[in-house]
Amino acid sequence: MSSEYTKFEGILFPKCFTMKNLKVSRDEFVVKDTDVVVVTYPKSGTHWVIEIVSLIRSKGDNTWVQSIPIWNRSPWIETDQGQLLLSKKEQNGPRFYSSHLPIQLFPKSYFHSKAKIIYVIRNPKDVMVSFYHFTKLCKFYETAESFSQAFEKFTQGTVPFGSWFDHTRGWLPLREKENFLILTYEELLQDLRGNVDKICHFLGTTLTEEEINLVIKNSSFSAMKANNMCNHSILSDEWIDNSQGNMLRKGIAGDWKNHFTVAQSEAFDKLFQERMAELDQRLFPWEQ
Ligand code: A3P
Repeated sequence: MSSEYTKFEGILFPKCFTMKNLKVSRDEFVVKDTDVVVVTYPKSGTHWVIEIVSLIRSKGDNTWVQSIPIWNRSPWIETDQGQLLLSKKEQNGPRFYSSHLPIQLFPKSYFHSKAKIIYVIRNPKDVMVSFYHFTKLCKFYETAESFSQAFEKFTQGTVPFGSWFDHTRGWLPLREKENFLILTYEELLQDLRGNVDKICHFLGTTLTEEEINLVIKNSSFSAMKANNMCNHSILSDEWIDNSQGNMLRKGIAGDWKNHFTVAQSEAFDKLFQERMAELDQRLFPWEQ
């Protein structure tokens, strides 16, 4: 499978994210104070957190997540479809949407709003592995010729949405703001209940114990893998080849160990140190 990328402000994007979409989302999209946004570097657990927030909104009831595709429940603002939906659709309650944009391309209007952002990070080695496999099925993305080629591109940042290091370094400084919540994929795996509580608190939502149990049950890996509204099985053949794998692939931490050579792991660790050393390492609660 092959694809083509467009370049906007020095960053690659799948060609379905047009220059016009990217300009509109940065320059014209009006963020409202009541908006809730999930922002991630791709393959960091975006769909999982969207599913959790969707379920918190429906108090654990899975009717909404089982009937409306995830990209309509929480549209990506940098896409045509997302911009159309957000301009037309009146969502019940505060608007809820998603983005993979690096901070410099995010809607300018956000920076003087009170909108809430949930930023999700994941061990970049696992992000890279997840992305490598996803490119085999998702036709937005170029499929690497080999894992080592994928490794080179990821570490150089010549991948869609740019460098993981730049994306993360761009967003993390907002962590002191009260309307900005950082979650990690690894902590979601370790303590989903604690993180659901954290998200509820951040959103100002109170759920009963029973409702929280339903959120946890309905956002589990197995529930999401079986949910056609988030497992990509209803996307057209133009976008995805589900015979090549599953978007909900393994759902674990540390799969990089099954892919990286010792040399690749050491080179990655060195790069991580060079790019992230001055940040508080407690922000990265995964084995390095
Ligand atoms: P893997 O490819 O490592 O399995 P995104 O939504 O940002 O594209 O991220 C996709 C990754 O999140 C995939 O990782 C997918 O399996 C994982 N994921 C999605 N839902 C999950 C869940 N409920 N529990 C654990 N992992 C989940």
